Amino acid sequence: SVFPGVRLPVSSGSPGAQRFTASSEFDISSCPITFYGRTHQRAYVNFTRQNLVVCFSGFYGSRTDGDCIFGPLPDSGSAEFEQYQRIPVLETIVKYSVPSIDTRMDSPTVCLLSLQSTLALIKFGPRSTDAWLPGHQRLQTRRLVQLSVGQDRLGPLGLWVRTFWFLPPGAVYKPATEVSSPETCFRLTCDKDVVLTTSSCGPLERCLGNGSCIPAALYDAIFNPKLDEVCTVTGPALVDFRGGVTSVRDRCSYSLLSLPSVPDFQVVASFQERRRKDVSFLDGVTLRLGGPSVRVHLKQGGRVLVNDATLTLNSPDPLVHPAGVELSKDLTGVTAKVSLSNFTVSVFFDGYTAQIHLQGPVGSALHGLCDNASRSLADLRLPESSSTSCETQFTDTDDPTISCTKMTEHCNLLKEAPFSACDINPEPYITACTRTLCSYPDQDGLKCQFLEAYARTCRLKRNATLVGWRTKTECSHPEAFCQDRTCSDHEFCGEKTVGGDTRCFCRAIFASKYRDSNTLGDPTVCNQTSASLTLANCLLEDEGVDYAALHLKDLTCRGRMDEETHMVTFSFNGTNRCGTEVMNNNNQIIYQNTISNHGGSSSVITRRDQVFIDFSCVYSQEAIKAFKIRSSSVIKVITSGVWNYTLTMKAYTDAARTQPVESDTQVGLDQTIWVELKTDGLDGDLLSIVTESCWATNQESDNSSLRYDLIKNGCANPADPTVRVEGNGEGTSNRFSFNMFQFSGRSGNIYMHCKLQLCVKEGNSCIPKCNGARRRRSIRSRTGSPALISMVWTD
Ligand SMILES: *[C@@H]1O[C@H](CO)[C@@H](O)[C@H](O)[C@H]1NC(C)=O
Ligand SMILES: *[C@@H]1O[C@H](CO)[C@@H](O)[C@H](O)[C@H]1NC(C)=O
Ligand SMILES: *[C@@H]1O[C@H](CO)[C@@H](O)[C@H](O)[C@H]1NC(C)=O
Ligand SMILES: *[C@@H]1O[C@H](CO)[C@@H](O)[C@H](O)[C@H]1NC(C)=O
Ligand SMILES: *[C@@H]1O[C@H](CO)[C@@H](O)[C@H](O)[C@H]1NC(C)=O
Ligand SMILES: *[C@@H]1O[C@H](CO)[C@@H](O)[C@H](O)[C@H]1NC(C)=O
Ligand SMILES: *[C@@H]1O[C@H](CO)[C@@H](O)[C@H](O)[C@H]1NC(C)=O
Ligand SMILES: *[C@@H]1O[C@H](CO)[C@@H](O)[C@H](O)[C@H]1NC(C)=O
Ligand SMILES: *[C@@H]1O[C@H](CO)[C@@H](O)[C@H](O)[C@H]1NC(C)=O
Repeated sequence: SVFPGVRLPVSSGSPGAQRFTASSEFDISSCPITFYGRTHQRAYVNFTRQNLVVCFSGFYGSRTDGDCIFGPLPDSGSAEFEQYQRIPVLETIVKYSVPSIDTRMDSPTVCLLSLQSTLALIKFGPRSTDAWLPGHQRLQTRRLVQLSVGQDRLGPLGLWVRTFWFLPPGAVYKPATEVSSPETCFRLTCDKDVVLTTSSCGPLERCLGNGSCIPAALYDAIFNPKLDEVCTVTGPALVDFRGGVTSVRDRCSYSLLSLPSVPDFQVVASFQERRRKDVSFLDGVTLRLGGPSVRVHLKQGGRVLVNDATLTLNSPDPLVHPAGVELSKDLTGVTAKVSLSNFTVSVFFDGYTAQIHLQGPVGSALHGLCDNASRSLADLRLPESSSTSCETQFTDTDDPTISCTKMTEHCNLLKEAPFSACDINPEPYITACTRTLCSYPDQDGLKCQFLEAYARTCRLKRNATLVGWRTKTECSHPEAFCQDRTCSDHEFCGEKTVGGDTRCFCRAIFASKYRDSNTLGDPTVCNQTSASLTLANCLLEDEGVDYAALHLKDLTCRGRMDEETHMVTFSFNGTNRCGTEVMNNNNQIIYQNTISNHGGSSSVITRRDQVFIDFSCVYSQEAIKAFKIRSSSVIKVITSGVWNYTLTMKAYTDAARTQPVESDTQVGLDQTIWVELKTDGLDGDLLSIVTESCWATNQESDNSSLRYDLIKNGCANPADPTVRVEGNGEGTSNRFSFNMFQFSGRSGNIYMHCKLQLCVKEGNSCIPKCNGARRRRSIRSRTGSPALISMVWTD
């Protein structure tokens, strides 16, 4: 058998079955074979010395006027022509060997002209050729896979056809034939030397159906129209898919594009002010995708966040996020591309300009500002951004550097060559350009943004390169100039000088709060015994001050910059005072320090602006209303001034002060009572409290006429020998003891009042001099108005 392992069905009795052992002619009309474009009813078989030859028209000695197949001699000289039912195994083998056969074996019958184990002719379906297969050794080694037209002329028979070309339509052509199909624009010539040439439309062309090829883009535009639109948002301006223009004036977020047929998909733009309070700029673009909700944020500086996690895009190859978003980054900016059912949306963002390129079926319903810039902005504002005060509009002072005439002239360059080579209407871009540049200074490459956006639109929609536009317009930098500079939320990245270095600038509204009060940061925070002051680095840079050069009085105390907020914090506390000076001034104790850039240098002159920022915290001691509780302790939070401290008065029945006097404690007359006065929250290294006086009254008022003194001028009342004072003026607490008494002839409450003062320690200066010596009131150096604390005993 020609096909080892294939058992051909027995064909006994099948009509037309013929067998030959010598050269002969036989009738194949029951299964005509199409060969070289002609259909044959008869075949001639000849066994020559070297070859087995099958011819279809005539074979006369050494010449042929017909089409012949030459093959190697069969093992035994016999040939058969038979018809079978379809043989699936054979079909599989043939198709595997000759992949270009794309139709089925003719069914229900198979015409098999098998020339013993040497070659076989098998008829396949109508569109296919008659397959010619060499003998089984070849089949086994599977050399049939590649077939080509042999061009060798060989032997006495003229044409030695080594192998055949299975053309796509499955035809085999005779020399000197020309075939053409106007429907497909396919044209084939087989010249008399069997040189085959074919032609059809090029890869970027399509056939018109009458033999003419036209560019694919033109063909698609006529027969296959697709939505292919670009929307541009640059600075405050937006040019929609149809060329409508609008400007956003607030700092809200807007829906640029959503597709009603793709739920949960949306492209959102957020706006923020930059150098002027009254002009907002595109600040970021977000792609929202449904399913498990995914947010892809394209931010300033080429930053990409996916659901709040930063994505690193270093390689030039696109990164495909599991959500199906393809992200890529180059020097010009970042592009996020996503395919959604029958749409492709690509969003480009360079920090200033976003371009949304939408491709999809014509007539699709669209929504968002990119679909119609004339829609009311309020309708497309995102609800979450409306809850903030983003809609507030600000005014700003006129900028004398803005020249509207000059800028209009510049924007009108879009009407001239080379821009005129692009058939996209430049008017919307000119409008956006003039509107923006007449209200905002030409800084940060602003005037080139509009030309750049137009040129990019031409490239996206028309594949048109506008040669030389950069030279003509002096917009030489295609790179996004703030790539990889991360500014904080209240900052934006801009140029220090035209075309120069970049840095983070304060946004105008953020800065105005500080400029109005002529400050560089937030007020000092005094909390417990620590103090801190926070300055905005962008305000410092506006003043030309390098935060790293700033320090407190102690030069080693420098500011700490927060990497994310770019706020610089200076602080001192009780542990590390950073050279803070403590002073006494009008009822106040002031902890005073200064932030400056002037220090360390012994030079008498300086060539840089000097910074002096006062950095102080104050304890003040206003008179405090006396109050009492019917318990052993009184706690006062002294909230005066900016530093809080608490003052506690507690009474005990033992010297170790473990047994407090509670409201139910029985206190006998002449029993010794210990009273402790304690503060919390004071810097004990620098300050102490001095109990200046303590006295008892039988009325709530501390100045009632009936009064008994226990401590006077910081010392025990010499008239009462039971009174002892300990630790007065030495630290942040002190105590005294006395023996219980009552006002003669009166029962009822006893009110105890003490007056305390804060004192800045300088040696022992706060400790009152007692022991009968003439009290030179060192206490005078303490502050004026004391804190007053009272407690009450009830019978
Ligand atoms: C077969 O070919 C030989 C020469 O190659 C020729 O002599 C002979 O006549 C041929 N037979 C037929 C039946 O055509
Ligand atoms: C095919 O049709 C187009 C458009 O109708 C025509 O411009 C072109 O000349 C035609 N080509 C031929 C070869 O007839
Ligand atoms: C786009 O795809 C959606 C679903 O995948 C289908 O319902 C809609 O008909 C398609 N639109 C067009 C214009 O092909
Ligand atoms: C755009 O929106 C405006 C206002 O809603 C409307 O008047 C106009 O017809 C819309 N334009 C298009 C092309 O839909
Ligand atoms: C765009 O034009 C360039 C050269 O001008 C060409 O190489 C490229 O194939 C074109 N692309 C498309 C999609 O037509
Ligand atoms: C000071 O104490 C008052 C009362 O407890 C409190 O409301 C206030 O926040 C405190 N201030 C500081 C800076 O801790
Ligand atoms: C004050 O400092 C304490 C401890 O240092 C801290 O727990 C508290 O939050 C601070 N209060 C303020 C208002 O900063
Ligand atoms: C005091 O400040 C120093 C340096 O600023 C800091 O290391 C220390 O933790 C602070 N101590 C307290 C109690 O806040
Ligand atoms: C006691 O002080 C109160 C207010 O604190 C004042 O109104 C009253 O006149 C004073 N009484 C005496 C006797 O000084």
